[in-house]
Amino acid sequence: MEELGYLASSIAHDFNNLLTSIMGHASLALLKLPPGDEARKHVEQTVKTAEYAALLTAQLLSYSQQRFPAKEQVNLNQIVADTVSLLGPVLLHNVLVALKLTPDLALIEANPAQIQQVIMNLTLNAAEAIREPDGKIVIETGRVTFSHNNLPVVVDDNLLVGDYTYFRVTDTGKGIDEPTLARIFEPFFSTKSQGRGLGLSAILDIVRQHAGAIELKTEVGHGTSFTIYLPSSTSPLVYQPIH
Ligand SMILES: Nc1ncnc2c1ncn2[C@@H]1O[C@H](COP(=O)(O)OP(=O)(O)O)[C@@H](O)[C@H]1O
Ligand SMILES: [Mg+2]
Repeated sequence: MEELGYLASSIAHDFNNLLTSIMGHASLALLKLPPGDEARKHVEQTVKTAEYAALLTAQLLSYSQQRFPAKEQVNLNQIVADTVSLLGPVLLHNVLVALKLTPDLALIEANPAQIQQVIMNLTLNAAEAIREPDGKIVIETGRVTFSHNNLPVVVDDNLLVGDYTYFRVTDTGKGIDEPTLARIFEPFFSTKSQGRGLGLSAILDIVRQHAGAIELKTEVGHGTSFTIYLPSSTSPLVYQPIH
């Protein structure tokens, strides 16, 4: 689906360039035709049709950019640090947030705003799960290579072997019991009175769009950790969407 999105946006772009050329030449031809020339109405119609086609491609372009957010090579540590400083004032009244960033991470090919959303949702859930005043959240990053004998068990999916960059949000909160665990990724499922239940379902969606996976460990009364694995970028992008 993602490749299709890139393809659609790239074709829309090329097509727009062609249409610009058609419109330009038709308009020039119109200037050279004397008033009352038999050919004028046909050339005028050509310009109008090309303008209409340009409108359609603009729609296609904006659709594929929303539906398939553009990805770029990004540094996960940077996004984590930015997100946490953004969340700081909201969180820090009773929860200690510790960062453990592994230096020299591989880049990942990702949409930074979406990854930020994932980190934010996980960290807010972690903060909301902590009741005691001395609760703690640890956010760490790292890298790992999976082969056939060390693949983790992940949510609703199978991970492929390869190099991954990950971040993990661990809290010392209340943990998640079995019946709740079975439903937490459902849209609109929430155990909170003010909850919307859209945090984890959005996370699952975003992680899948990045060919990643979620590992979840929890113990009632002790805490929870969510690990998000994202494929490390090893080679430069072959095919990049044009904006
Ligand atoms: N870190 C966590 N610790 C305990 N429970 C959690 C944690 N993260 C998620 N949950 C459970 O998963 C449910 C769904 O989470 P989410 O989709 O973010 O919706 P919301 O936060 O609006 O309830 C939460 O209501 C809660 O029961
Ligand atoms: Mg939430």
